Amino acid sequence: MDTLIEKTKEKKVFLETFGCQSNVLESDHVTGLLLKNHFSMTPNAEEADVILFNTCSIREHAEHKVFSRLGQLGDWKREKEGRVIGVMGCMATSYKDQLLERAPFLDMVVGPDQYLKVPQVIREAAGTGVSQVLADFDPVYFPENDPNRLAQPHKAFIEIMKECDKFCTFCVVPFTRGREISRPAESILGEVTSIAQAGVKEVMLLGQNVNSYGLGLRSKGQGASFAELLRQVGQIKGIERVRFMTSHPLDMPDDLIEVMATVPAVCNSIHLPVQCGSDKVLKRMNRKYSVAHYLEQVRKLRASIKDLFITTDLIVGFPGEEEKDFQGTLDLLDEVRYDAVYSFKYSPRLGTPAARMLDHVSEEVQDERLARLNEKAWKQASEACESRVGKVEEVLVDGPADKTPDAYYGKSCQNRTVVFPGKGYKAGDVVRVKIESHKVANLYGTIEK
Ligand code: 5AD
Ligand code: SF4
Repeated sequence: MDTLIEKTKEKKVFLETFGCQSNVLESDHVTGLLLKNHFSMTPNAEEADVILFNTCSIREHAEHKVFSRLGQLGDWKREKEGRVIGVMGCMATSYKDQLLERAPFLDMVVGPDQYLKVPQVIREAAGTGVSQVLADFDPVYFPENDPNRLAQPHKAFIEIMKECDKFCTFCVVPFTRGREISRPAESILGEVTSIAQAGVKEVMLLGQNVNSYGLGLRSKGQGASFAELLRQVGQIKGIERVRFMTSHPLDMPDDLIEVMATVPAVCNSIHLPVQCGSDKVLKRMNRKYSVAHYLEQVRKLRASIKDLFITTDLIVGFPGEEEKDFQGTLDLLDEVRYDAVYSFKYSPRLGTPAARMLDHVSEEVQDERLARLNEKAWKQASEACESRVGKVEEVLVDGPADKTPDAYYGKSCQNRTVVFPGKGYKAGDVVRVKIESHKVANLYGTIEK
C-alpha cells in the first residue's frame, strides 16, 4: 500500500452540506469516494481530522453560514498537525479568492466540477500547508449511485442534467456552475436499471431545469427529450415511482404532460417555480413567461393529471416589486392553490444583473410581505391536506416514525408524508393507508386491510 494511503488511513472526515438536493447527491458521492480511498467518515466535527463544507451560493444566508463556520476553525486547524479544511461546491467558484483571504488556513477549494479529485487533494494537503484551488469548469461527470452502497435501499436521486442556461436575473447558478449540459440517456437508463435490480423502487430525476433535458447547446445528439426519457425510466422493471425536479414553466411541452398522465410509475406531482405573480417583475427577472402563460400550464396539467400535487418557489421583494405586484403574487396563490410553497426573500447575488438594479425593496417591506405570503400559503397547504382526509393513499414506507412510537412513515404518490401505526415494516414496503387526520403538512391514518 502506498505511503500516502497509509498516512490517510486513519483520517476521519466530517462533511457538512449546504443547499440543494444536487449538493446532497454530490456529498453522498464524495463520501463514497472517500471511503473507497481508505478515509473514514464521522458525524462529529470535534473528532474529525478533515472538515469539508459542500457549499451553496444561491442565497446570501447559506454563504454567511459557511464564512462564519470557517471563521471558527482557525484555532482548530492550528491545534493539531495534519488537519485539513476544505470548501467544495458553488462558493468555491464564486469566492475562490475571498475564501483564502478570509480563511488563509484553508487547505483546499474545490469547485463543483472537480470533486472527483477530493481524496487526492486531501492527501496532498495533509501537512503541507499549501492551499490548492481547483475551480475550473469541467462538467462532463455525473455522480452515480453505487448499487452496492445505496444511501437508502428503496429510493435514489439521479442527476440527469447539470447547470442552467436560463439566466434569471436574480440567480447565480449560471455563473457559479457554467453552461447547461445533459447526461446521455443510455447512462441514465443504465444506472436506473442497475439500482432497480438492487431493490430501488423510486427515483427522483434531478437537474436545475429538467424540462430542457437534451436541448442545451452542449447536449445535442444524445437523443431523447425529457418526456421520452421519463417514459423510458418509468418502464424500467422494478421502478414503481418516478419523480423529477425542477421544471421551468417555459418548457412544459404537451408530450411531458401526456407522459405524466399516462405512464403509471410517473408520480402525480410537480415542482413548478413561478417566482412571482406580476408580469412586470417576471420580465425584470428574465423568466420569459407571463402569469397567463403559467396559469395556462397549470390548467393543462390539472386537466390531464388526477390529484396533481403542485409546489412552487416564490421570491418576495425583488427590486422594483410594488404592493400591486405583490398583490399579483397573492392572487396567483388563490388561483393555483399550491400544496406547498417555498418562499424566499430576494437576496442580491454578486455578478447577477438584478444585483445592479437600484430600486431595492426595504428589509421591513420584504419581511412584511414574506409573512403575508407565508400565512396564505400555509392556510392553503393545510386545506389541501384536509382534502386528503377520508382518502386511501398508497404509501412507500421510509422507516419507523421519529416521534410516534410503534409507527412508521412514508410518502404518498403525491409526495405527502404519511404516518401510520404498525409493526415489522421495512423501507421499500408499499402499504395502503386510510387517512384520518393531518397535522401541519403530515397525514395520519391506519392501514387499510
Ligand atoms: N434570492 C432569493 N431567492 C433566490 N432563488 C434563487 N436565487 C435567489 C436569490 N438571489 C430561489 C428561487 C429558486 C430557488 C431554488 O431559490 O426561488 O427557484
Ligand atoms: Fe437559476 Fe433561473 Fe436557471 Fe433556476 S432557471 S437555476 S432560477 S437561472
